[in-house]
Amino acid sequence: MAAIKPAIPSRRFDAVIVGAGGSGMRASLQLAEAGLNVAVLSKVFPTRSHTVAAQGGIGASLGNMSEDNWYWHMFDTVKGSDYLGDQDAIEFMCREAPKVVYELEHFGMPFDRNADGTIYQRPFGGHTANFGEKPVQRACAAADRTGHALLHTLYQRNVRARTHFFVEWMAIDLIRDADGDVLGVVALEMETGEVMMLEAKQTIFATGGAGRIWAASTNAFINTGDGMGMAARAGLPLEDMEFWQFHPTGVAGAGVLITEGVRGEGGILVNSQGERFMERYAPTLKDLAPRDFVSRSMDQEIKEGRGCGPNKDHVMLDLRHIGADTIQKRLPSILEIAHKFANVDATKEPIPVVPTIHYQMGGIPTNIYGQVIAPKNGSSEIVNGLYAIGECACVSVHGANRLGTNSLLDLLVFGRAAGNHIVASNLKARSNKDLPADAADLALSRLTKLETSTGTERVQDVANAIRKTMQYHCGVFRTDELLQEGVKEIMELDERRKHVSFKDKSKVFNTARVEALELDNLIETAKATITSAAARKESRGAHAHRDYEKRDDDNWMKHTLWYSEGNRLDYKPVNTKPLTVETFKPKARTF
Ligand code: FUM
Repeated sequence: MAAIKPAIPSRRFDAVIVGAGGSGMRASLQLAEAGLNVAVLSKVFPTRSHTVAAQGGIGASLGNMSEDNWYWHMFDTVKGSDYLGDQDAIEFMCREAPKVVYELEHFGMPFDRNADGTIYQRPFGGHTANFGEKPVQRACAAADRTGHALLHTLYQRNVRARTHFFVEWMAIDLIRDADGDVLGVVALEMETGEVMMLEAKQTIFATGGAGRIWAASTNAFINTGDGMGMAARAGLPLEDMEFWQFHPTGVAGAGVLITEGVRGEGGILVNSQGERFMERYAPTLKDLAPRDFVSRSMDQEIKEGRGCGPNKDHVMLDLRHIGADTIQKRLPSILEIAHKFANVDATKEPIPVVPTIHYQMGGIPTNIYGQVIAPKNGSSEIVNGLYAIGECACVSVHGANRLGTNSLLDLLVFGRAAGNHIVASNLKARSNKDLPADAADLALSRLTKLETSTGTERVQDVANAIRKTMQYHCGVFRTDELLQEGVKEIMELDERRKHVSFKDKSKVFNTARVEALELDNLIETAKATITSAAARKESRGAHAHRDYEKRDDDNWMKHTLWYSEGNRLDYKPVNTKPLTVETFKPKARTF
């Protein structure tokens, strides 16, 4: 019997991509250039997606500055991940890296250049030659605006390839049928409030991270975990959500990112005694140790009373010795950010910085083609019709701690891989499956509830309370007590969230509606994060636990899977077997 379609408008595409950042537009380019009919939805104009804020560079072993190779890059990534990254995926990413960078160069990306015309590469945290022996210059940079240059390059190529952009549209929920296949999304046009079903043979989540579950974050306001929320509501698990990266250098009090490229160009961190303290913590790599290491060292300095400023609550990033010419040439945005957000002239004064939430290592579980994987009947199965790429996905190449510049690399490699995989599946020859009668029910019921709720909670009060709880209970250093209290508070906030309503229902702005929908995604991500963190009884990468100070490979060398229903956890093994080389066996991480 033919299914009856709900009475809301619907459009059909070969593929629908949710999110127009680097991964979304890299995937859409691959699909549109292959002649597929592709829609990309974005809450903001594509070139304002959060990738635009990436500053320092793209990791790839081009070897333009000195000898380098993908195997050393792989080693750094595995060690950086504190051995939780899947080594097959890491090998794939590091081998693909030079290819995706050269492609960008051919697309017209304005990289900085060396005198011989090759792409300029700068040092970055945890990037080494010869398996940790000495720093290497691997970050392919366009000044300190690499993400900006990347997004503009990809957007222009997509326009040429005739990708359809739905600008200022928000995906509300997935459409799944009785077989569990994904058939597209229900989406909201933010300006008009119009709801539409976007049917797709393949749906790709490229929704970015959820850095806005924290009070102090380098993330854009749009980073509300929409992909994770939609996946969780559809019954899919979220992987390794306890691992969140604190970037060592957010502007104190403002959260705005100061690129690690500053330390790559020679900047140093100093405490209130003027001491370059990273020499004590990481004698070889010093200020360019991986981020988890540097953030913990900074936190330690502050806790031991060597912080700067009247409240001794930050340290200083000093780049004066680099010289005004180099700063203006290589780090022009940093000059501007330091001036606007810290009121300092960085050529003459140090910048006050503090570890600030920056990146989620976990996300929606996928394979190396971006296909979403969910356990079914005791084994893992591909979710037909759904891919996830970029920060919202967990493939897992970052494990417990990501190396700087591997985020832009991840979104290029896996955006491209997902696109290629879909093209190879001969999508054009297939037709869209018919929608079930209840296709839009979940999304519509959420919208209706918002319009009719008589609750007394305000969206922003609950959202701010989530941020405060996460910041206090799930910070750089964690304890059992803090985490358990945090789980309780977040679960209470989940109850409060169910009672949000608009004060004056006759005058609801669409932005308020969007914020209310985003709140549902924030809470799913916060629950996943704090529940997963409370359960992991070890310290690994960005999960630094005062009650369990050591990494415990015997019991905890495994990926966490969190399910929204019942706030339940499960685990799956780490893939320690690379594709073609020997396994890197876990060792103590010293730098
Ligand atoms: O420090 C930065 O420029 C950030 C880079 C990254 O997160 O990879």
